[in-house]
Amino acid sequence: MTTSIPASLSARLETHGQMHTLAFWDRLDEAQREGLIQDLQSVDFEHLARLSEKARTETADPHSTIEPLPQVTRGADPAQDARARALGEQLLEDGKVCAFVVAGGQGTRLGHDGPKGTYPATPINGHPLFQVFAEKLLALSRRVGTPVPWYVMTSPANHDATKSFFEANAYFGLDPRDVRFFDQGTMPAVDTEGRLILDEPHRLFRNPDGHGGSLRALHTSGAVDEMRASGIEEIFYFQVDNPLVEICDPTFMGYHREARSEFSSKSVPKRDPHEKVGVLCARDGQPGVIEYSDLADDLRDARDPGGKLRFRAGNIAVHAISRGFVERLNEGSFGLPFHVARKEIPTVDAGGQPTKVDGIKFETFVFDGLPLANEILVMEVPRADEFSPIKNQEGQDSAESSRIDQIDQFARWLEAAGVHVPRGEDGSPLHAIEISPLFADGADAVAARRADLPEAVTADIILS
Ligand code: UD1
Repeated sequence: MTTSIPASLSARLETHGQMHTLAFWDRLDEAQREGLIQDLQSVDFEHLARLSEKARTETADPHSTIEPLPQVTRGADPAQDARARALGEQLLEDGKVCAFVVAGGQGTRLGHDGPKGTYPATPINGHPLFQVFAEKLLALSRRVGTPVPWYVMTSPANHDATKSFFEANAYFGLDPRDVRFFDQGTMPAVDTEGRLILDEPHRLFRNPDGHGGSLRALHTSGAVDEMRASGIEEIFYFQVDNPLVEICDPTFMGYHREARSEFSSKSVPKRDPHEKVGVLCARDGQPGVIEYSDLADDLRDARDPGGKLRFRAGNIAVHAISRGFVERLNEGSFGLPFHVARKEIPTVDAGGQPTKVDGIKFETFVFDGLPLANEILVMEVPRADEFSPIKNQEGQDSAESSRIDQIDQFARWLEAAGVHVPRGEDGSPLHAIEISPLFADGADAVAARRADLPEAVTADIILS
């Protein structure tokens, strides 16, 4: 029996001006026809039409009121920090915290062939980002005396490659039972006329639905059910590009918990008004993040009476999210707003040959969950200890800038432990330094290994 197009589907395609998606129907084999029908039937055409229309007409709202958000500052009150830290450590010891990395992005900016987490990151060994995180988690698990589970969100394009990478590297020493991979959702893209795009004659082009998709995928994948069953109450969320991330930072988890926050975020003071980070702030009283490209020039440059940038709370995409919050969202019909990215999209021409078309991708952002939370918390942390992402091939936020920042952090840890680290005129260490989290995962851990440290750094040095 040959597959035919269900009448209801062709009526919907007709109504929404999407009949071109069947252009190659006569050439498709049975399996391809079935696949295409399934693909098309999963599209919410009304929603997509609304999104496409909005994308065509959208302009920034000049009338919204934008204000900074209150923040707690790490280091401002050492006694309070210590109390928060103790609380966070207790949560970890009780097995109530998991780590969660969003690793579904394509990493196109880096020009790297493979999942971004496989990108070489450490200063001397060039260990990949995933290894850095795995070893930090191993070290943390040893500190707290219990394994800290790790959830890894992938996208269909990199799921298999990500899993294979962990398998090929024996999970970098982690117990595979403590690492759980799940896929995020996808969204079809459209051309500038709102028409769906075929990336193969029998398949729609779809992109990952943004890191905001994690708030749904945590539920649809069964991850939150699993968390509930194993007693996990708090999710430490981070991005795949930042080797300085302090995974499951107990002080942050403690502040989050004390404030009964459902969605907490770390910030660093923006380096300068033009730094390309989003800013945590309130728009018309609602907390959220405004991307650097969307912050009006006068707000971007505004200073407070002390001379600091008024909107300086740079979003480093480190969040603490309560499991109960994710569950509550998914009980209802929550939907994060879709943001528009205009991109060239691979497609096929009339002859079925590969070509490109100007198109629109739709993505959701996790920080749009902030206004849905009953309580939130923002915590400012020092950049040098927590944020040096690898995003670009060169310049700021590149592998090279991150390498320098990692070496600097290791140098400071050694100096605090009494090791002499020679520095050049510009203040940077003369020799490269790499400290594996398995040797020591912080200044205190380095100091505790004083007996294993040299008196001075006299050449490039790896401590592992
Ligand atoms: C992001 C933030 C920005 C913040 C900066 C800090 C957005 C829109 N902006 O920018 O506010 O200052 O990080 O470094 O997020 N990802 C998925 N699935 C997707 C898309 C992305 O898992 O569908 C993951 C990526 O793998 C990566 C992270 O989300 O870990 C960040 O994505 P990216 O698009 O690179 O965000 P940035 O532009 O760097």
